[in-house]
Amino acid sequence: MASLLVSLALLSLILFFSLSAASRHHQKTSSGCLSAKEIIHEACKASRDPPTCEAALAQSDHVPYDATIMQVIQTALWLSSQNLNKAQGMVQEILDASTRNVNRSIAAKSCLEVLHYSDYRINMTNVALASGKIKDARAWMSAGLAYQYNCWGGLMNVNQTSQVNQTMAFLYSLAGLSSNALGMIVNYDNFGKKTKFWAMPKTERDGFWEGGSGDFGFVGGVPSDLKADVTVCKDGGCSYETVQDAVNAAPDYLREGKRFVIGIQTGVYNETVRVPFEKKNVVFLGDGMGKTVITGSLNVGLEGVSTYNSATVGVVGDGFMASGLTIENKAGPNAHQAVAFRSVSDQSILENCEFLGNQDTLYAHSLRQYYKSCRIQGNVDFIFGNSASFFQDCLIFLSPRQVDPEKGETNTVTSQGRMDPAQSTGFVFQNCTINGTDAYNALYKSNPSVHKNYLGRPWKEYSRTVFIHCTLEALITSDGWLPWDGDFALKTLYYGEFENKGAGANTTKRVTWSSEIPVEHLNSYTVQNFIQGDQWIPKSS
Ligand SMILES: *[C@@H]1O[C@H](CO)[C@@H](O)[C@H](O)[C@H]1NC(C)=O
Ligand SMILES: *[C@@H]1O[C@H](CO)[C@@H](O)[C@H](O)[C@H]1NC(C)=O
Ligand SMILES: *[C@@H]1O[C@H](CO)[C@@H](O)[C@H](O)[C@H]1NC(C)=O
Ligand SMILES: *[C@@H]1O[C@H](CO)[C@@H](O)[C@H](O)[C@H]1NC(C)=O
Ligand SMILES: *[C@@H]1O[C@H](CO)[C@@H](O)[C@H](O)[C@H]1NC(C)=O
Ligand SMILES: *[C@@H]1O[C@H](CO)[C@@H](O)[C@H](O)[C@H]1NC(C)=O
Ligand SMILES: *[C@@H]1O[C@H](CO)[C@@H](O)[C@H](O)[C@H]1NC(C)=O
Ligand SMILES: *[C@@H]1O[C@H](CO)[C@@H](O)[C@H](O)[C@H]1NC(C)=O
Repeated sequence: MASLLVSLALLSLILFFSLSAASRHHQKTSSGCLSAKEIIHEACKASRDPPTCEAALAQSDHVPYDATIMQVIQTALWLSSQNLNKAQGMVQEILDASTRNVNRSIAAKSCLEVLHYSDYRINMTNVALASGKIKDARAWMSAGLAYQYNCWGGLMNVNQTSQVNQTMAFLYSLAGLSSNALGMIVNYDNFGKKTKFWAMPKTERDGFWEGGSGDFGFVGGVPSDLKADVTVCKDGGCSYETVQDAVNAAPDYLREGKRFVIGIQTGVYNETVRVPFEKKNVVFLGDGMGKTVITGSLNVGLEGVSTYNSATVGVVGDGFMASGLTIENKAGPNAHQAVAFRSVSDQSILENCEFLGNQDTLYAHSLRQYYKSCRIQGNVDFIFGNSASFFQDCLIFLSPRQVDPEKGETNTVTSQGRMDPAQSTGFVFQNCTINGTDAYNALYKSNPSVHKNYLGRPWKEYSRTVFIHCTLEALITSDGWLPWDGDFALKTLYYGEFENKGAGANTTKRVTWSSEIPVEHLNSYTVQNFIQGDQWIPKSS
């Protein structure tokens, strides 16, 4: 179905481009029509860099004289996609030239992986626009853009050759093109064809909220009546002995509405699990938190392991669900980045799941994710990424960190990484509790002033995180939020709070760059509005 839609969209795009090629030699405008130059100018008001946007679209020679605004958006997407294919070629050349350089070759491989995801999401954005699903278009293009930055950031660590430098420069301009397209899609969603209202994407920090909808207390999650298609247990008698073998047995590209349910029985599964791109709608059903445990200890201290690859369980295929299990990374408090769970899966649902780690426990990487009644434990940036994630009724625990925990430390619960003001990403916590583990609480009580815990810090410039109706224990410091580095992102991030309770929720002494969410805009952050959950989270839970 999805591939049929892609082909239809491509067909319409091809038709459109052949039509536009036929008409683009007309220079004069007929009555009421804007010239190509004029319509490009209008559309590029949505860009963060209008002159560059206008030049790129004009040079593309693909905007007809009487183009509609939608055709300009499609051209912007086409430009992004063309240049992405070129970037893929350049990164492949880096890989080919790196057989003797392990680090560079790993960076190039990761880059190719995420550029493939970017390519897919840009294609899907076209499909979504053609079928009027503009919120999906926004979600997918937000991710398509993020992956291009991820590739750029990965190459930055191996930038010792001019070939890498040139590729990075190309990727940077590619991200600019993708940002232009995303900015246009956002303006189209907000103002339709009325380009007089179009402008550079604004955020809450500019006092801008889009119209919201829905309410809190959303009911939905992993359906309770799922039957396992296959089972996993350690001691024989099940279909498989490892979780990965069961995942490998799932059919590729399951269509919407079909699921592959893996029942994982009580036991400790010491393995690295990957749910790849083509394994869609895979469900992990455990016997309960603390009973079904998937464990690992990969971390960035090991040769060739990146934060992304350190995940014990890493999920890419869309529509992933899990319930009733624990996923942990036991690398230990001195291992730095060591991810337990990482999701790149659009429309993923995690319910009654426990995530245990220290630094970077939960990598909510990209796209739309829903966490319900989960337990998340760590200490440094332990919920991070650039997804649009909603955390409902979750328990969040700070745990002791270094070898000598009495001397004190600075912890951050979140580190959201939105890079572009048009990205529809951010973290929403609603009716969650932040507390310490018993061991941490004992440490904290013995000397509160040396144990500092913050709600979050800005990993990227447009970091966005809100806490609504949550209970914040006293261990959350009174200033609330921590800078990343100097004044980086402090003018562009959005950190909001609304009706939280507990000794850590008093906002009197909060940093000046945090906000209280105006009540009239609260419904921007509902499951329905923020992640369109009413359209994909099963209601019966
Ligand atoms: C590769 O990366 C590791 C850690 O990231 C570093 O210790 C090592 O020196 C790098 N090797 C080369 C050849 O640059
Ligand atoms: C995206 O569409 C292009 C054609 O425009 C095609 O070559 C490419 O394989 C598609 N990519 C993915 C990941 O579907
Ligand atoms: C190249 O890498 C070095 C070291 O990682 C970094 O400081 C520098 O900013 C990088 N250059 C670019 C253009 O990213
Ligand atoms: C690549 O770029 C970095 C940062 O701009 C610079 O320090 C380095 O000399 C460049 N390397 C080459 C080989 O061009
Ligand atoms: C888990 O497996 C790894 C190797 O795959 C091994 O080094 C480690 O000791 C195992 N841990 C446990 C608790 O069995
Ligand atoms: C809030 O979350 C707790 C679990 O932490 C749950 O027991 C309670 O029912 C939730 N409250 C509402 C109003 O949903
Ligand atoms: C936090 O944990 C302590 C036990 O360490 C417990 O007494 C307290 O009730 C918890 N707070 C909340 C809000 O659940
Ligand atoms: C919040 O903190 C301020 C100053 O620290 C204090 O005056 C005020 O009473 C506190 N409010 C509540 C509700 O505890």
